[in-house]
Amino acid sequence: MEVIREAAEMRRIVELARARGKTVGLVPTMGFFHRGHLELMRRAARECDEVVVTLFVNPTQFAPGEDLADYPRDFESDRSRAESAGVSYLFAPGPGEMYPEEFATTVEVEGLSSVMCGKERPGHFKGVATVVAKLFNIVPAQVAYFGQKDAQQLAIIRAMARDLDFGVEIRAVPTQREDDGLAMSSRNIYLEPDEREAATALFRSLAKARGLIESGERNASVIREAIGEVISAEPLVNLEYVSICGNIYLEPLSELSGEVLIALAAHVGKARLIDNMVFEMELEA
Ligand code: PAF
Repeated sequence: MEVIREAAEMRRIVELARARGKTVGLVPTMGFFHRGHLELMRRAARECDEVVVTLFVNPTQFAPGEDLADYPRDFESDRSRAESAGVSYLFAPGPGEMYPEEFATTVEVEGLSSVMCGKERPGHFKGVATVVAKLFNIVPAQVAYFGQKDAQQLAIIRAMARDLDFGVEIRAVPTQREDDGLAMSSRNIYLEPDEREAATALFRSLAKARGLIESGERNASVIREAIGEVISAEPLVNLEYVSICGNIYLEPLSELSGEVLIALAAHVGKARLIDNMVFEMELEA
């Protein structure tokens, strides 16, 4: 596996691979790899000839006061884990390579960016869309892999790729979970032992929603209330939102039908955690 620091060199390598008829898979990350990241890389390695993982802690998606400075980093461990997962190139640019002084362009997916996590983190998805647009240009892959855990990010990137004709296929990879259901996240490292235990309430609340849906419940208010009950039984978990919406356009639903996303965000100690499940409902005849 080769580590590349310069955008122009990265792009040349991918263009050459494509000219030779290779399929290139892109896995954008901010590093500090856990099983979720490795699953993205392994899937890309199974499905593509060459895999490019990008590792860049993108400053523009952190608001002032968020955890940019504390965001966990471990380059040496990331490098060896990516290599073992079958990655061909690790693109790890410095901030000056991605955002030179004269940088002045942003990408914003309107509507989808201002709901759910966008309410508490204004500007976050503009930072995500801008850096991912740059990465799609630097690494002109045929396929890009993103985790289902970041469901809103996934919806926004799909919309951006479609609207701006990037010509890259976006593939979602299922959320990887700890044995007790907690969704894997680089930010889980912030949790103290009692918070770590309490944090399972996010998954437990979604599992309760799943049980209700499986037994025929279709009323979003009933499901929202059940989720709220599980979360409020854990005083260390501070619920930010529960959204029951369409999985593509994120429009709120009162009755579940079609492809439904149930997503939530909560603060647990220093960590802000998100989780979700997607349900395929039978459409009414
Ligand atoms: O999901 C992430 O790790 C980041 O938001 C991404 C897509 C790599 C953009 O910085």
